[in-house]
Amino acid sequence: MTSSSASITIRPLEPADWATVWPILHSTFQAGDTYAFSPDSTEAEIHKAWVELPAATFVACGAGGEILGTYFIKANQAGLGAHVCNCGYVVAPAAQGQGVASLMCEHSQRQAVAMGFRAMQFNLVVATNERAVRLWQHLGFAIVGTLPGAFRHRALGYVDAHVMFKTLVA
Ligand SMILES: CC(C)(COP(=O)(O)OP(=O)(O)OC[C@H]1O[C@@H](n2cnc3c(N)ncnc32)[C@H](O)[C@@H]1OP(=O)(O)O)[C@@H](O)C(=O)NCCC(=O)NCCS
Repeated sequence: MTSSSASITIRPLEPADWATVWPILHSTFQAGDTYAFSPDSTEAEIHKAWVELPAATFVACGAGGEILGTYFIKANQAGLGAHVCNCGYVVAPAAQGQGVASLMCEHSQRQAVAMGFRAMQFNLVVATNERAVRLWQHLGFAIVGTLPGAFRHRALGYVDAHVMFKTLVA
């Protein structure tokens, strides 16, 4: 599925995109404040997690084709939990605050329904990542639980993490 809004296009990740996507993911995960991936993760480990294991991976591109962000979608559980999907989103620092994540999340919800998923779950939204928490709430996700000290923040130590959930197909 490819879609455009204003000057931003969201399309499936192509192998040649990885050279741009990896540095964005690498610096994001090295910060150790938003995702549980080890800050020391190798490129091969992150390629496996972001591109090979998910059901699909997308990039958001600006008017000139430059990559602004990326997301993956996969089943959150196997078997009888496989109708609930899980996504991860990262936006390049210079492109943040322009609605890229909002567009990617809306795209991912349409994509999820097209792939047969009935709901979307985020397993570990770091409570101190206030922008992300607020954004997902604006997009209809509810905090269904808070895991005490479940995230080892690189700067802050053990902080809470939220499980967030949205039903897509009633
Ligand atoms: C969290 C993250 C994905 C948000 O991406 P983003 O593209 O900056 O998000 P958006 O621009 O869609 O929304 C952020 C804010 O910009 C606002 N915004 C949306 N469109 C806008 C526009 N056209 N112009 C200005 N601001 C806009 C949104 O309302 C939102 O405001 P809020 O913070 O008051 O809620 C990004 O900061 C990121 O990649 N962080 C590191 C990884 C991460 O935390 N991922 C999520 C893990 S759960």
